Order: sequence, then C-alpha cells, then structure tokens
Amino acid sequence: THVVSEACIKCKYTDCVDVCPVDCFREGPNMLVIDPDECIDCAVCIPECPANAIYAEEDMPADQLAFIQLNVELARAEGWKSITKRKPALADADDWKDVMPKIQLLER
Ligand code: F3S
Repeated sequence: THVVSEACIKCKYTDCVDVCPVDCFREGPNMLVIDPDECIDCAVCIPECPANAIYAEEDMPADQLAFIQLNVELARAEGWKSITKRKPALADADDWKDVMPKIQLLER
C-alpha cells in the first residue's frame, strides 16, 4: 500500500485525491490518510503532493514508520470520510509544509 506521512499534517493540499483511480483517501480534520484495503499501489499520487507526504510503504523513511499503522487506524476511525475531490488547502499550509515534527498536532 501507499501511506500518507507526517508532512500532510496542517497542510492537507488534497491534490492527491484528484488523481486517485480508486478513491482510497480518507479525510480527517487536518490530514488525509490512505485506506490500505483500497489502495492499488499505482503511485500516481506521490508526485502530486506539494508536501511530499506520500510514500510507498516499503520506501517509508525510518522516522515515519508509525504512519503505516496510523493510516490503517485512521482510515477506519469514526468521522474520517472518503474524499474524492480536491478542495482548498488548509489556511497556513505553505507555512507548515516543511515544519517537523508536527505529529503532536494531528487532530483525530
Ligand atoms: Fe496531504 Fe499531500 Fe494529499 S499534503 S492531502 S498528502 S496532496
């Protein structure tokens, strides 16, 4: 599967959802995740993300491995709904794009 990592938090550019052929993105308050049961590993979303937040599971940086399980968990979490159309990024997305760490700011 592919995985949305920490860089998405407080950005949520949503360019990724427009190109997904299987509508596998799920939306939370300040981040998207990928439903691993739906993702077909086509990888078209990777270059679309302005924050470079999306990785193939096997290419995840060591400090991002927690997000594999987080994508599984949040894709099933209450209130995390399918998102299939791009919408405006969060207000301060460009300011948060390169800020790390920000996992503590994840809203569920
Ligand atoms: Fe997040 Fe990048 Fe998509 S910031 S919403 S993974 S385009």
